[in-house]
Amino acid sequence: MTPTTVLVLFAAAIPYAFAQDAPPTPEQIAHQTWADNSNTQICKYTAWTWAAIIAAMLVYRWTLHLLRHVRRLANLNHGTTSDGRQKYFSIPNENYAKAKRHLISAPLFRKRHNREFHLSSAMNVGTLPGRLQTLFLAGYFVMNIAFCVITINWHDSNKTYYDDARNRTGVLAVLNMIPLFLLAGRNNPLIWMLDISFDTYNLIHRWIGRIVVIEAVAHTTFWMAGKIAIMGPAKGWAMVTTAMVPSNQLIFTGTIGTCSFVAILLQSPSIVRHAFYETFLHVHIALAIVATSAVWMHLDTLPQQSLLLGAIICWAIERSLRLYRLVRTNLGNGVTKAEVEALPGDAVRVTLRIAKPWKFQPGQHIYMYMPSVGLWTSHPFSLAWSDEQPAFSAEKTLPLSRQDLFAARKSASMSLIIRRRTGFTDKMYRKAELAAGGKFMTTAFVEGPYGHQSFQSYGTVMLFAAGVGITHQVPHVRDLVVAYANGMCATRKVTLVWIIQSPEHLEWIRPWMTQILGMEKRREILRILLFVTRPRSTKEIHSPSSSVQMFPGWGDGC
Ligand SMILES: Cc1cc2nc3c(=O)[nH]c(=O)nc-3n(C[C@H](O)[C@H](O)[C@H](O)COP(=O)(O)OP(=O)(O)OC[C@H]3O[C@@H](n4cnc5c(N)ncnc54)[C@H](O)[C@@H]3O)c2cc1C
Ligand SMILES: *[C@@H]1O[C@H](CO)[C@@H](O)[C@H](O)[C@H]1NC(C)=O
Repeated sequence: MTPTTVLVLFAAAIPYAFAQDAPPTPEQIAHQTWADNSNTQICKYTAWTWAAIIAAMLVYRWTLHLLRHVRRLANLNHGTTSDGRQKYFSIPNENYAKAKRHLISAPLFRKRHNREFHLSSAMNVGTLPGRLQTLFLAGYFVMNIAFCVITINWHDSNKTYYDDARNRTGVLAVLNMIPLFLLAGRNNPLIWMLDISFDTYNLIHRWIGRIVVIEAVAHTTFWMAGKIAIMGPAKGWAMVTTAMVPSNQLIFTGTIGTCSFVAILLQSPSIVRHAFYETFLHVHIALAIVATSAVWMHLDTLPQQSLLLGAIICWAIERSLRLYRLVRTNLGNGVTKAEVEALPGDAVRVTLRIAKPWKFQPGQHIYMYMPSVGLWTSHPFSLAWSDEQPAFSAEKTLPLSRQDLFAARKSASMSLIIRRRTGFTDKMYRKAELAAGGKFMTTAFVEGPYGHQSFQSYGTVMLFAAGVGITHQVPHVRDLVVAYANGMCATRKVTLVWIIQSPEHLEWIRPWMTQILGMEKRREILRILLFVTRPRSTKEIHSPSSSVQMFPGWGDGC
């Protein structure tokens, strides 16, 4: 094709691109009404599917919650681990145990799902979803494919299926943007309602994102293919290219939208996310804003704009909640201060004096902003410890004991242990190391708390941690020892298994462990097994007592 031919074709196509369509025949109007209705119907089916899944999950969670409560009540103040009640609750229901083993908690294949897949030692391809998650995602995928094709007459001699499929994929892409935006937020109410972790929603967010991209591309493709099929290849292509100009808002914004969606897909593989998390996040948000604005303009005057509005509202509420929590927690009563102290073994201890603290519970994590180190970025960390003091008394901080258990307590300070990685955490470590005395004070903002669990209804609790993962377990250990001493839990045995590289990592939590080991009745319930994988000499490995034992290596000492 010579350039002149292209120009002629362009010129020939311009009237098509801008012309008002010829007035539709009654037959066409009837078809359009029918098509619009079936698209609305499909939106309803999707909404009902979501509602049914959420309802089923709610019933499941409430049942589990009730069972736990009963188990805890039945075992309060009842004997040892070999006590009849403890035994009764320790016998699992076989079917449920099987379901858990093979479906609910099962990895997809042999590999544990949280271990990353590596192509080589430098590249990881990400984590695989678990079996139940895979089932859900596959089901959702199949449902979307089905919704893209059902009720459309794929054999119509007038080729109406191009328009029908174009409209259908477009509607579904916009509809899926609602869960896409909702599940992206860490304040998504489904997290606490269904007791499903943000991690899982994040996984679903990524897969729904992929579905939206595919639907957007299909939407664009059906539009192009329709033009080509109806006008012939030459005119059709020319029409497509002439339409993609700023003065044709519908097509221009649609093109930008689809391109930004594809760009998001290309910049978000696990390798990129993990290697350049901060850059990934900023580009991701920028592209999402471009895509959303483009789609918004694309939908001007179309009823589907209200679906997009729903998605945008989900996002706006989440962001406002974050801001609200941030302001309330850190500016209520002075400003939150953090003391950052370098520790042996490439870690820092951050002690937070939060302006308006909350009731500390085991399993909580926060997002921390530290402008002097990380500007506006935030990073998630588990709360490893809280020092509490009675709210209405001037007494010095007491260790947790029976007396103050029921007193209203406010945390005077909360602490984090942060392992040095390569970005924000590395900067923080180096700053502390260079500061006088190995520590510095700075202003920090804490967003949270997020999440918490209780293991108090279980007779035997085994906690495993490797390295800095101990931050999540220490509060559970303290919680269970205190609850046991007060006769408030079903727990009779707690075993903490901690795998560390070198004994100097013990320093990270030494003061807290000393407190826990000194607690009332601790010996009756707590056992600690330490495995040191890279001791400098065997002399370093010695067991302080029978309830705290240290072994070299990975557990061959067991
Ligand atoms: C719920 C939760 C609790 C955590 N608790 C602790 C803890 O108690 N102690 C501890 O040392 N670490 C904890 N982490 C890990 C900690 O968040 C990361 O190590 C830290 O954000 C790395 O920052 P960096 O800039 O040095 O990362 P980099 O060295 O740039 O990257 C290291 C890894 O951290 C991930 N990462 C980087 N920034 C973020 C971010 N803003 N959000 C999420 N992931 C990120 C990257 O994907 C990468 O895999 C926790 C993480 C989560 C999700
Ligand atoms: C497709 O959607 C557009 C915009 O809502 C509408 O004008 C057109 O009639 C629809 N076509 C069909 C076949 O449903």
